[in-house]
Amino acid sequence: MSDHRILLLGPPGAGKGTQSTRLAETYDLDHITTGDALRANKEMETEYGTPGEYMDAGELVPDPVVNEIVVAALSNADDGFVLDGYPRNLDQAEYLSEQTDLDHVVFLDVPEDELVERLTGRRVDPETGDNYHVEFDVPDDPEIEERLVQREDDQEDTVRERLRVYRENTEPVVEHYREAGGLVEVSGEGTPDEVFERIRDVVEE
Ligand code: AP5
Repeated sequence: MSDHRILLLGPPGAGKGTQSTRLAETYDLDHITTGDALRANKEMETEYGTPGEYMDAGELVPDPVVNEIVVAALSNADDGFVLDGYPRNLDQAEYLSEQTDLDHVVFLDVPEDELVERLTGRRVDPETGDNYHVEFDVPDDPEIEERLVQREDDQEDTVRERLRVYRENTEPVVEHYREAGGLVEVSGEGTPDEVFERIRDVVEE
């Protein structure tokens, strides 16, 4: 097992997806992202309803559904992983601690008004799943720009609800790792390259 078992924490829009993708490429890690896994299974029937019903409202998908995704992904991640979007509440954090140890816990810190701007301006390429931004990250290719779509949960009302859910459920998780020691706080402001350099310093320390 490599020593790159990385947990990236942060509010919606902090850049977890952007930075996890880079970490996974740079260090050849599995990118475990509950958000993407759930989006790929939005219409899947479970005893709690479909994941999409929760996601489009900005609410958390029930723990058993999410835990199952994570445990399956971890069992295939022998050469290290970067975990993005999980755990999002204290029960998930406890479940995770029963499944694996972590080498690095990084918290991406971004002020709330910037989060709203990033999320409401995000656009996704439906063909590749790549994220762009109407202002900060416009694709060079006009053909790509034309086909970009907005995520259902990136409407401003839903963004505000996601931030509320984050404060209520996920901030205690950040506090939990801070108290346990080992949580490193990194500023998520600046360009994606600048933020990546900060995270790389932590991982390579
Ligand atoms: P998920 O997909 O995980 O969404 P999220 O945590 O809200 O995070 P985002 O993907 O919105 O943001 P991000 O931090 O990855 O930022 P990104 O890099 O994209 O979850 C969606 C839903 O799934 C949840 O609401 C819930 O319903 C469900 N779910 C998922 N996990 C769950 C769990 N564990 N338990 C229960 N339910 C769960 O960047 C955002 C934008 O900013 C982009 O446009 C990007 O281009 C731009 N950007 C990035 N970095 C910068 C920068 N440095 N400067 C300027 N712009 C930047």
